[in-house]
Amino acid sequence: MKKHNYSAGPCILPQEVFEKSAQAILNFNDSGLSLLEISHRSKDFVAVMDEARAIVLELLGLEGKGYQALFLAGGASLEFIMAPYNLMKEGGKAAYLDTGTWAAAAIKEAKLFGETVVVASSKEENYNYIPKGYTVPSDADYFHCTSNNTIFGTQMKEFPSVDMPIVCDMSSDIFSRELDFSKFDLIYAGAQKNMGPAGTTLIVVKEEILGKNGRIIPSMLDYAKHIKAESMYNTPPVFPVYASLLTLQWLKNLGGIAAIEKINNAKAALLYAEIDRNPLFKGAAAVEDRSNMNATFLLNDEAHAATFDTMWKAAGISGLPGHRSVGGYRASMYNALPLESVQVLVDVMQALEKAI
Ligand SMILES: Cc1ncc(COP(=O)(O)O)c(C=O)c1O
Repeated sequence: MKKHNYSAGPCILPQEVFEKSAQAILNFNDSGLSLLEISHRSKDFVAVMDEARAIVLELLGLEGKGYQALFLAGGASLEFIMAPYNLMKEGGKAAYLDTGTWAAAAIKEAKLFGETVVVASSKEENYNYIPKGYTVPSDADYFHCTSNNTIFGTQMKEFPSVDMPIVCDMSSDIFSRELDFSKFDLIYAGAQKNMGPAGTTLIVVKEEILGKNGRIIPSMLDYAKHIKAESMYNTPPVFPVYASLLTLQWLKNLGGIAAIEKINNAKAALLYAEIDRNPLFKGAAAVEDRSNMNATFLLNDEAHAATFDTMWKAAGISGLPGHRSVGGYRASMYNALPLESVQVLVDVMQALEKAI
């Protein structure tokens, strides 16, 4: 039986993506060859890469606006390094918003390149809210933020208006909600939540911000070189790119980001309503900053943990325990998780209430 998969990432993908990508491993495009045994320079794979790059810009509403999409390797963690390498001037300065473990990891790497100003941090409150009302120094080379904090279950609902490039780590909520993506100059996201399997990272960059910081950048870390090579500077992660394309096609056929956002809102509303109603549970994050992707919640009385754990496992739920830095539970409701799975979790929470 297929589980109700609440894993925070790698995570659930659409069933048709599992099936079509399995088929491509056996016989890609009826060629008599596996996707895994053909050249990345073959006509068939170049077409995959081209379509994947194009569909990203189409779904984000960025076609013809000076943006390029790249599928690279190295994870979002490598972008913590590539962003400052490509954007921070020698002797320059960058501004960062510290909203969680991943934001802090990005800050740590930026410090290797120059002055890194943390404009605000919610670390003291174990990152349970998104700081607001901060000032970004006007002489910063760029402002960096994390749109969704996977571990703590908070999500930025608004982004500051600044006169410098905005860089955003959208690893855990890209393609989940409508935003004016043209407000961002560099977006990056590890594929393994809303887009595909682990192994590739999506980068969406406004070309005009590149080549201006005066640094000599090693080729593999240079966005401009990857753009020039059409995301084929070296052998790309062919399988993750192909499975990502299938996921993005699935999303497009569903009606794109506007359509999935409605479903995601319904899922989050259903679960948060139960967390707030059920006297056995409480939410971990500030209500106004709650993430629609990762809902973090706790039992008011830890004594019920063993019973609850037995019950949700028996209901076919997987991947619910919270990250060790928050404890409790984390329900990751990425795009491919159906509303029915959320109903199963809510039913278990109600059954626990009755059982106690
Ligand atoms: C928001 C965010 N940024 C960065 C990362 C790190 O991604 P990767 O493992 O692809 O380097 C994660 C991983 O979960 C994440 O959730």
